[in-house]
Amino acid sequence: MINCNLISIIFIRTMTLVKEFLRFLVSVALIALFLSQSLPALADSALASDTFIGMKVAALLASPAGPIVGTVTPGTPVKVLKSVGAMSEVEISGWSTTNAPTNVFSAEGQRMLLVHIADPAQLTPAVSKVVKDEYGTFWQDVTVKAWIQQDATVSDVAKVWDAAQGLYNTRCSACHALHTPDQFTANQWPGVLRVMAKNASLTKDEDALILKFLQTNAKSQ
Ligand code: HEC
Repeated sequence: MINCNLISIIFIRTMTLVKEFLRFLVSVALIALFLSQSLPALADSALASDTFIGMKVAALLASPAGPIVGTVTPGTPVKVLKSVGAMSEVEISGWSTTNAPTNVFSAEGQRMLLVHIADPAQLTPAVSKVVKDEYGTFWQDVTVKAWIQQDATVSDVAKVWDAAQGLYNTRCSACHALHTPDQFTANQWPGVLRVMAKNASLTKDEDALILKFLQTNAKSQ
């Protein structure tokens, strides 16, 4: 009887320990799962740019006090290097061709304009590599470093695309049904919009915003 009780007590104790241990294992597994999900996300957000040019074309300056040496289009991601007063030094990465290096585009062969260099003597991009495309054009991977007004930027790029969509809906549906952005490729839209911008009497800023919106949502080749 005593033995029996003892055995059952030991059994119950052991089972409790086993249960505790299993619970511990489950907790460790859950914590590991949580960390594996959230750590890469944290690392990504730390690396990813969280600053973008706002709704208007922004001026690029050689120094915090000027002069203007180029422009950067709406929605372009920029990496903020440092800030002085209302100005920030930023880095913008893109691609340009060796025969027209003053236009910096989003990717090799993709003519979505990010930066226009107005003064190449004062705004000289750093070139990290050069590749030749199927048409024999040389594309260079470039980084532009310049100063911009902080209030020309936004941290939430969705605001830029919302404004662009609203403008597109109202200005581009007056004469015909709204065309969908995926009707043309990013390389075709500039030519189409050149004519239509006149039809819709778009300002330079409106033109740049709508073009960037159309190219961002364009047909993939
Ligand atoms: C004042 C009237 C008017 C406005 C405003 C207008 N369009 Fe058009 N659009 C036309 C006419 C007319 C055509 C057909 C003839 C042509 O292609 O020029 C056309 C054709 C088009 C086409 C077809 C082109 C092709 O090659 O198939 C697209 C795309 C287009 N418009 C986009 C736009 C966009 C984007 C806007 C806003 C920036 C816009 N339109 C504003 C009059 C207008």
